[in-house]
Amino acid sequence: MIIISAMSKDRVIGSGEGMPWSVPEEYQQFLSLVEGQTVIMGWRSYQIFGPDLTSAHNIVISRSGVDQEGVIVCDCVEAAVERASSFGKTVFCAGGGSIYAQMLPLVEEMYLSYIKGNFTGDVYFPEFDEGDWDVAERRDHKGFEFVHYRRKA
Ligand SMILES: NC(=O)c1ccc[n+]([C@@H]2O[C@H](COP(=O)([O-])OP(=O)(O)OC[C@H]3O[C@@H](n4cnc5c(N)ncnc54)[C@H](OP(=O)(O)O)[C@@H]3O)[C@@H](O)[C@H]2O)c1
Repeated sequence: MIIISAMSKDRVIGSGEGMPWSVPEEYQQFLSLVEGQTVIMGWRSYQIFGPDLTSAHNIVISRSGVDQEGVIVCDCVEAAVERASSFGKTVFCAGGGSIYAQMLPLVEEMYLSYIKGNFTGDVYFPEFDEGDWDVAERRDHKGFEFVHYRRKA
């Protein structure tokens, strides 16, 4: 299971009904990486990004009895992870803030895009200790830096 997220250097991931930046190349990269795979998202994020998703299986976490066509709804993180793993594809945890915070202890890899520039927002990626992670890949792009982290053994 892999966390995938874009954030500012201050760990901002969201502002109001979306992200406080427009970096199309980064968003296209996200859509390419999740294409044909399995995505887990909180209900709030699914309402924002769901229509764009290219994943084969979408699992939404919600307690509020959501009934959404084309989506599997689970009422807790554990059920979402179990269901997601049943498809045999790569499982991406794609936010938002509350879901990243709950799933960070469970994942072994993260694909993080650090968006260049200064941004304010109201939702943050959870703090993590970089010392706990190896950098498997680091790539510089025009508007962002992509880092692939693997949790140290
Ligand atoms: N930059 C990025 O890469 C990125 C990616 C994704 C999202 N975002 C941003 O993140 C923000 C949304 O994040 P958010 O934290 O506000 O919302 P969220 O995590 O997307 O969704 C929150 C909802 O998920 C459900 N939920 C959370 N934990 C649960 C649990 N343990 N059991 C059952 N249901 C649970 C609840 O739904 P119910 O209320 O229905 O019970 C809760 O209201 C937006 O600003 C969005 O743009 C950014």
